[in-house]
Amino acid sequence: MSFKNKVVLITGGSAGIGAATAKQFAKEGASIAIVGRNEAGLKAVAQRCDQHGSKTLVIKADVADDAQVKIIVEKTIKEFGRLDILVNNAAVLKNTTLTSPDVMETYDEVININLRAVIHLTSLAAPHLIKTKGNIINISSILGKTYVQTPQLMMYCLSKAALNHFSRGVALELAASGIRVNIVSPGPVRTHMLATLDNNKKVDDHVEPTALRRISEPEEVADVILFLASDKAKGVTGSDYCVDNGVLIKF
Ligand SMILES: NC(=O)c1ccc[n+]([C@@H]2O[C@H](COP(=O)([O-])OP(=O)(O)OC[C@H]3O[C@@H](n4cnc5c(N)ncnc54)[C@H](O)[C@@H]3O)[C@@H](O)[C@H]2O)c1
Repeated sequence: MSFKNKVVLITGGSAGIGAATAKQFAKEGASIAIVGRNEAGLKAVAQRCDQHGSKTLVIKADVADDAQVKIIVEKTIKEFGRLDILVNNAAVLKNTTLTSPDVMETYDEVININLRAVIHLTSLAAPHLIKTKGNIINISSILGKTYVQTPQLMMYCLSKAALNHFSRGVALELAASGIRVNIVSPGPVRTHMLATLDNNKKVDDHVEPTALRRISEPEEVADVILFLASDKAKGVTGSDYCVDNGVLIKF
């Protein structure tokens, strides 16, 4: 899978799945713009990407801030002159309950980052993707389909369910322009996010709902993202690939 001469924009690229995805694209020859709030983390990832001879642009930005989202696209186009692949990966996980005093605050934060920012960035990136007949990968979660014993994650789950529906709608709208839009829905992946999912559990405890009795590494999710972004998947759009070690087959 070669991504030579392709430009990839990845949000949440300083850690976890986003960082692994940036490195895999770099290995395959892509130029990359990585976005996040943690500049030191982004620079460390960029350094690793550049070791493969790729050109990596670090963009420190909060995707929940409209003005900063505009700058993300402007900087990417100014640096590389084109955009081929958008990976909407940044997200947050926040616990709340319906009767908690912070319920609406949590709703605003989670929806702004996990959904609104994706819609905004996608709308600004779309004209550039239309020019290159590019494609979009949205990182959702199996929690967008079922609760897997996590009622306190209601806002996260609904943000991902809405993201799934948005993704299919965009796939339909942009198909006329030759653009593919796909979803990757991970189950448990060994990242900071999984470590904060449940204070009462260790990361390895999340093996429990999986049929394969294992937790994915971020690189495994990146592999599926690269496949969907590649010409090998030229007939795939509006699809939702689960990398969940078989959690969903048990529900
Ligand atoms: N780790 C898992 O088990 C798991 C499971 C299912 C889905 N996911 C999804 O995978 C994606 C990546 O998560 P991860 O596990 O790598 O988590 P992570 O916490 O390691 O990474 C999330 C990234 O998003 C960035 N981010 C968060 N809010 C941001 C904002 N407002 N502006 C810019 N960047 C922001 C963070 O800085 C971080 O780099 C997310 O969409 C997440 O919902 C993860």
